[in-house]
Amino acid sequence: MEKFDFLRNEIDDLKEKGLYNTIRVLGSPQDAWVTIGGRRMLNLCSNNYLGFANSDGMKRSAIEGIEKFGVGAGAVRTIAGTLLVHEELERKLAEFKNAEAVILLQSGILANIATIPLIVDEGDIVLSDELNHASIIDGCKLSRAQVVRYKHLDVSDLTAKLEDYSNFDGRKLIVTDGVFSMDGDIAPLPDIVEVAEKYAAITMVDDAHGEGVLGENGRGILNYFKLEGKVDIDVGTLSKAFGVVGGYVAGSSVLIDYMKQRARPFLFSTSLSPADVCALIKAVDLLMNDPEPVRKLWENSAYIKERFSSLGFNTGHSKTPITPVIIGDEKTTKRFSERLFEEGVFAQGIVFPTVPKGSARIRVMVSAVHTKKDLDYGIEKFEQIGSELGVI
Ligand SMILES: Cc1ncc(COP(=O)(O)O)c(C=O)c1O
Repeated sequence: MEKFDFLRNEIDDLKEKGLYNTIRVLGSPQDAWVTIGGRRMLNLCSNNYLGFANSDGMKRSAIEGIEKFGVGAGAVRTIAGTLLVHEELERKLAEFKNAEAVILLQSGILANIATIPLIVDEGDIVLSDELNHASIIDGCKLSRAQVVRYKHLDVSDLTAKLEDYSNFDGRKLIVTDGVFSMDGDIAPLPDIVEVAEKYAAITMVDDAHGEGVLGENGRGILNYFKLEGKVDIDVGTLSKAFGVVGGYVAGSSVLIDYMKQRARPFLFSTSLSPADVCALIKAVDLLMNDPEPVRKLWENSAYIKERFSSLGFNTGHSKTPITPVIIGDEKTTKRFSERLFEEGVFAQGIVFPTVPKGSARIRVMVSAVHTKKDLDYGIEKFEQIGSELGVI
């Protein structure tokens, strides 16, 4: 018996069930085409919605940031790690999101984990969509509040659950992904806000897949639904459409002021590097001044969705550029992804626990920097392998 036999057994079990992830390593920048193992591959699975991860302008801003501020922030924000550019980015994001204030964090996952435990505690409740992202689930666990899961996108179920707790005197937080990352469907935020007002609940949305995608110039889900100022807590990530890394929370001045005093990742983990922050300042400028990348993203995603549906693939109920090709069985999905890889298309299979068992899929992510020729190449390979494996 070896100490880590229990982990070896778990790994064997994952392999047996088709749940073991082979991690692909990129030898080039994140872009429409990438190099993996020396081969040039069409990239259909990154979150680099707008192509900003390899933007020339942002790279130049990152280099200028390094020249001016060095490579590391050197401390946590509350001790010596707040540089002028951290505050400049917070101001710019607040303007972009039309919010009173913003706090920057080191990632989207940390933004959720930082926020929820500050809002609710033991004796309070969180009403959480059953398909919320793992970082919301972890934030809820850390808070020690009671979690009440409501059916996916179902405001009647949410209302019924709130009704059950109508005599409850603890705080109530309703939390939802804005755009659900594995299905591309959108939370019914206007209805959620209405119900929250009726039951005096605090509202929180995770806009990770909405910013840079929804609303005017990609301002996000609140702009899309004209709900700016009406949702209490707007969490975001800077690692998807923004193309770099980081997370943030936008909201009222009092919320952000308190978070800067007590949010644990803000207090206990070194702040974002100057290069990241300077690239992000440029990203916000690009978004505010040019609607073209967002328009192109939607054009590309409409094209691929239409072609996949006409070939007979099940692309679910996505309302956004996220395009799931739902296969169901885990092993066929893995095989599909491997065959795509052999044919020069990088599109990873997504299996449990990221999606429920039996709903495995290839999650296709196009970007604003794919050309129609790129997309046609990918579609042709999907058609070929889809028929080969009996999926279409
Ligand atoms: C809905 C949602 N929230 C949060 C995150 C985490 O963001 P980050 O990668 O910046 O930690 C993700 C990323 O997978 C996400 O999809």
